[in-house]
Amino acid sequence: MARYLGKETTRVDGIAKVTGKAKYAAEFQVPHVAYGFVVLSTVAKGRITAIDTREAEQAAGVVRVFTHRNAGRLGKAPAADAAPQWAWPLQSDRVFFNGQPIALVVAESYEQARYAARLVKASYQAEPHATELESVLDNAKPASDNTPPRGDPAKALQVAAVKVNAEYHIPINHHNPIEPHAAIAFWEGNKLTVFDKTQNVYGVQKHLAEGLGVPAEDIRVVSPFVGGAFGSSLKPNYYPSLTAMAARELKRPVKLVLTRTQMFTGHGYRPQTIQKVRLGADANGKLQAIIQEAFHNTSSFETFSDNTTGFLKQVYACENLDMPLKVAATDLATPTWMRAPGAVSGMFALESAMDELAYALKMDPMELRLVNYAEVDPVSGKPFSSKALRECYRLGAEKFGWKNRKPEPRSMRDGKLLVGWGMASSVWGAMQMPASAKITFRPDGTATVSSATSDIGPGTYTVMTMIAAEFLGLKLDQVTFELGDTRQPQAPAQGGSWTTSSVGSAVRGAALTITAKLLDLANRDAGSPLRGVSADDVEMLDGRLRLKSDTSRGVDIAELMRSTGTSEITEVYKSTPSPERDKYASLAHGAQFVEVKVDPELGTVKVTRVIEITACGKILNPLASHSQEIGGVVWGIGMALEEATEVDHRTGRVMTANLQHYHVPVNADIHAIETVFVEEDDTIVNPLGVKGMGELGMVGIPAAIANAVYHATGKRIRSLPITPEKLL
Ligand code: MOS
Repeated sequence: MARYLGKETTRVDGIAKVTGKAKYAAEFQVPHVAYGFVVLSTVAKGRITAIDTREAEQAAGVVRVFTHRNAGRLGKAPAADAAPQWAWPLQSDRVFFNGQPIALVVAESYEQARYAARLVKASYQAEPHATELESVLDNAKPASDNTPPRGDPAKALQVAAVKVNAEYHIPINHHNPIEPHAAIAFWEGNKLTVFDKTQNVYGVQKHLAEGLGVPAEDIRVVSPFVGGAFGSSLKPNYYPSLTAMAARELKRPVKLVLTRTQMFTGHGYRPQTIQKVRLGADANGKLQAIIQEAFHNTSSFETFSDNTTGFLKQVYACENLDMPLKVAATDLATPTWMRAPGAVSGMFALESAMDELAYALKMDPMELRLVNYAEVDPVSGKPFSSKALRECYRLGAEKFGWKNRKPEPRSMRDGKLLVGWGMASSVWGAMQMPASAKITFRPDGTATVSSATSDIGPGTYTVMTMIAAEFLGLKLDQVTFELGDTRQPQAPAQGGSWTTSSVGSAVRGAALTITAKLLDLANRDAGSPLRGVSADDVEMLDGRLRLKSDTSRGVDIAELMRSTGTSEITEVYKSTPSPERDKYASLAHGAQFVEVKVDPELGTVKVTRVIEITACGKILNPLASHSQEIGGVVWGIGMALEEATEVDHRTGRVMTANLQHYHVPVNADIHAIETVFVEEDDTIVNPLGVKGMGELGMVGIPAAIANAVYHATGKRIRSLPITPEKLL
C-alpha cells in the first residue's frame, strides 16, 4: 500500500512561493548589476539603414547601447551570400519581423534603460512583407514529420453515404505567463552564470555555448522557479544570449526583463492554423474516410511544425485517412509550442467536424465516437498499453446527464438564454524521455534528490519528493528535491507532459538502487537476517531495510551504515523507456462534456458547466493533477471564446500586445468545472504507470464548446475565438 503515491499532497514548495522565498530569474541579487532594455524593430521586413544611438548614450545612467554595429559576436558569422537567418540578436542589419530586437540599452537602473531605449532612432529600408497565412497558403511546404496516407481516402470519400466538408480557422495565440521572460548573466573569468526563466536549463546551456563559443561546462544555467511558461520557455529564446553578450562586453552583470508587450514578440506563439476537413461515413456512422489538411504559419528564417495532426491519426478506427500538415513562411517571429501544441488545434477541427457529421447522420455525437472507437492503434496496428476512453465517455455522460440532451439545436432554454450541450474527445501522448536523477541518502534518514528538470507549475517539486519518499521509506519532510540547475544530472525539457514519467522513473530508479546497495552492505554480514534475499524482495521504511513478505525480518539502516563505515550513499541513475513499450501504442485520452448558455440578444457565451474525464494512467498526486486538468479546461475556454493575437497586416505588428487587448479568462468567465480521472493500471508505459496529463486537459475543450454553441444556437462557428459578433 503506497504511503504517498496516489494521495493528495499539498505543494512542498508552497510556503516558499507564497512567502516570496522562492526566487524567480529576475529576483536573484547580483552585486553591481546593470539593467538592459530591448528596442524592437518597427517594420516587418527589410534592412536597418541607420541607427542613431547618440541621444540614448548621453541619457542619464546609460552604460552602453548595443546595436548590430557594436554588439559582441554571437553564433557563427553568416556567409555573405547566406540565406536569411535570425538565430542570434543584433548580428546584422536584417529585419525579419516587426518587434525583432534591434538594440539593447544597458543602464544603471531599469528606469534609465527604459527611458533611453525610447531615444534610439532607427531608419529602415523596408521591403514588402506577408504576415497573413491566407496570403501565403500557396507557398506552404509539407512539414518534415508528415506520414503517408493510409488506404485510399479520396476514393472512399467519394462513395461515402454521408459527408462533411468544412474549413476551420484558429488565430495566433500567445502564452501569457505571469512571470515575464528574464535573465541575469555574469561572468567570472571565462565562466558564465545565467539565471534564466526556462523549462530547459541544459537546452539554454547548449545554446549559449554555441552562441558565445564557450565550452558548455563553463556555463551554469540556474532556474529553480518558473512563474508559468506553457511552452514559451522550451526554446532558449533570444534574450539569454543577448544578456550574456552584454555582460561579457561590459565585464559586468546584466539583467534583462521583457515587458508584457515585448512578450508578444519574444518567445513564439501558437501558430495561425487553417484546416480543411472532409469526413465520409456510411449510414451507420462508421467512418469511411478522413481527410484533414492542416496549414499553419512559420517565420521566414526558421521552420516549425506544430504536429497539428500527429496524434489525430490515432483517434478513430478509419481505414482511409490522410492528414497532411503544411507550413508556410510569414514575416513574423517563429511560432513555438504552446500548451497541448498541435493536438488542441487539430482536435478543434476534427472534433467539430465529427459533431457536424453526427448532425448530418442524425446520430448522437457520443454514439458516433463509440461507433468509431479505435480498439487498437490505427497507425501501427499495435494494441494500446492501456486505453480507458470508453469508460471516460460512459462516466462523463452519466455525470453530465447527457441522456437528457434534446438533439435539436435551439431546443433547450433557460429563460431567455439558449442552452447548448456539446462534447468532444481528447488525446495526448504518454511519452517518456531519458532522464537522470541523483540521490544522496544519509544515515540520519534524510535524502537530497536532484535532477535538472523544471517546475513551471504542475507540481514537480512535490511529486518528485513523494516518489523519493515512497521508495526510500522516508517522510516527505526528510526529502529535499532540487531542480533547475545545470550542476544537477541531465533531464529533458519540461514539456510534452513527460516530466513525471521521465524524471519520476529516474528518481524511483535511484531510490531502488540505494535499496539494493544497502542490501549488499547488510549481506556483508554472514548473520544478516536478509541474507540470500534479492533486492526486489526488500523495501526501506522508517529507518529499516526489511523483507516485504515478512516485515519483522530486517536491519536498522542507520546502524548498518555506521557499522560498515558508510557516511552516505550517493547514486546517479539514468532511466530510459523500456523496450517493452515498442510492442504497444501508449496514449492518454479523455472526454469532455460542456454546457453553454448563450444570450441571443448579446451573443455572449457562458460556459456554465464542464465535466472533463481523463484517463492518463496512475494519478500520483490527485490535488495537483486536478489543478492541472482544471487549468487545461480554463485555457480551453480562453482559446474557444477569447484568445486572439491580432496582427495589423499593413505593418506586420501585433496589435494586442497586452492583457487589456489580448483576452484571457478571468474568474467571472469560469463556472462549474469537474475533473475526474479514470485510472489505468498500465505496467508497460513506465514503472510508475503514469501518462502525460498537463496538456491533455485542454485538448478537447475548444471543440466541445464550439459544439455546445452550435447545439444552443444552430450556428456553426468554425473560426476561433467564438466572440459575440459571430453569433449575432
Ligand atoms: Mo508544453 S507546450 O510541452 O510546455
